[in-house]
Amino acid sequence: MPFDRSELRRVMSHFATGVTVVTTHDGQGRCHGLTANAVCSVSLDPPLILVCVDKRAESHPAFELSQAFVVNILGEGQEELSRRFAVSGGEKFDGLPCRNGGTGAPILDGALAYVECRVVAAHDAGDHTIYIGEVESAETGDGHPLLFFRGSYRQLHRD
Ligand SMILES: Cc1cc2nc3c(=O)[nH]c(=O)nc-3n(C[C@H](O)[C@H](O)[C@H](O)COP(=O)(O)O)c2cc1C
Repeated sequence: MPFDRSELRRVMSHFATGVTVVTTHDGQGRCHGLTANAVCSVSLDPPLILVCVDKRAESHPAFELSQAFVVNILGEGQEELSRRFAVSGGEKFDGLPCRNGGTGAPILDGALAYVECRVVAAHDAGDHTIYIGEVESAETGDGHPLLFFRGSYRQLHRD
C-alpha cells in the first residue's frame, strides 16, 4: 500500500525551505509562474538546478513550450508575492515589476536572488515533472530570506 499522502506532506513540512517564485512563458508573450519550494541545486559543472512542477498546475504547459524558467528566490518581505503565485491561474503578473531575461522568462524585481535556466531534461515523477535547467544567468540582491516550515511562512531569527 502506498504511503499516505497527507502523512508524507506532514512529515516533509518539517524540512524547512526557502520560498521561490518560478517563472516561465508560453512562447507567445504570456508570462506564467508558481510559488515553489521543491527547488534544488544539482550540479556545478555543468551548472544545473531542478524544480518540481505539479502536472495539474496551470503553468505546467508553459514549461514545455518555453523550455526555460527563472527561479526567483524570495526575501522576507515577499510573503504577499508568494501567496499571489500560490493561487492557480489569474493575472499574477498584473502590476508586477519585472523584466525578461535572455530566455524570455520574467525576472521579478526585488527578489533576494534569481537563477535563469534553459531546460536540458524533463523527468516524469509521479504527479510532478522534474525540470532540470542549465544556468544561463544568476544574480543576488540584499536581505534575508523568506522561509517555509510546517505549513507557515517564517523569518530567519537574527542574533
Ligand atoms: C510554500 C509553497 C511551496 C510550493 N511548492 C510547490 C512546488 O515546489 N511545486 C509545485 O508544483 N507547486 C508548489 N506549490 C503550489 C503552487 O504554488 C500552486 O499549486 C499554484 O497554484 C500553481 O499555480 P498555477 O496553477 O497557476 O501554475 C507550493 C505552494 C506553496 C505555498
